Amino acid sequence: MGTLNALNEGLPMKLDESPPSLPSASFDCFPASARTYNQDGLMTMHDCSFIEEPRFANAYRDAIQTGSWSGPWGQAQIHWRAHVLCWAGQIAQRLQGDFVECGVDHGGTAMLLLKYLDFDNSSRRMYLYDTFCGLDPTLSSEKELANYTGIYRDCYDEVRQRFESFSNVIVCRGSIPASLSKTAPEQVAFLHIDLNAANPERAAIEFFWDRLTPGAMIVLDDYCWVACHAQKLSMDEFAKSVDCPILSLPTGQGLLQKR
Ligand SMILES: C[S@@+](CC[C@H](N)C(=O)[O-])C[C@H]1O[C@@H](n2cnc3c(N)ncnc32)[C@H](O)[C@@H]1O
Repeated sequence: MGTLNALNEGLPMKLDESPPSLPSASFDCFPASARTYNQDGLMTMHDCSFIEEPRFANAYRDAIQTGSWSGPWGQAQIHWRAHVLCWAGQIAQRLQGDFVECGVDHGGTAMLLLKYLDFDNSSRRMYLYDTFCGLDPTLSSEKELANYTGIYRDCYDEVRQRFESFSNVIVCRGSIPASLSKTAPEQVAFLHIDLNAANPERAAIEFFWDRLTPGAMIVLDDYCWVACHAQKLSMDEFAKSVDCPILSLPTGQGLLQKR
């Protein structure tokens, strides 16, 4: 998950490369009583009944228990982001290929997908890549390092134990992209990138691009969070180079599909 520090400090942040400024947002256009959702930088009056759907609710409950989404900021709730992941995972389940997550932390979003998609009863594998102790200082900008100082502690043993009952989950410790060349699936149906750092994220999508099955779903967790603008710029450049546009979602995620 990106930008929690930034949220605590209050937006807008000062950025090196600022996104275009827009007229200031106003939520006065609908009364508080009409709001159906107000979390994670997103407020709306739209239907979000997916939250109560039992399959989703059960997977979300197991995911939140990992502790991935809590920290000095308290307990974050990310239902709509989780909904996007579950939806994209369902599409990917119809395709050939394994699932990959770059940026796992305690395993929140990984657990969400494993439970929602009933991975226990699947022959495909899920590869989980992380240092399991935070950003790689040699690959991250000063700003990125400053944003996440003190957030990540070593959680490798905990994560290994968490997923050891899933025979088809492969936990890969190491810095991305170096760890990808040690072990990686040949065919990928689903790729979730959530590293909070532009350079390794770019390296990850470049590494996996040719391994993605046509139709594969790619979710970029930090893509359009204002505080992660460097990630957006880098991903936009990549998307242009492969002629595959990225959809900005109001959750802050970016979504693309391999052609
Ligand atoms: C926001 S967390 C992932 C959260 C997870 N997707 C979730 O929502 O449950 C970002 C993770 O990226 C990892 N990370 C950052 N840079 C990395 C790199 N170059 N190589 C491997 N892991 C990295 C950090 O250790 C951290 O656990």
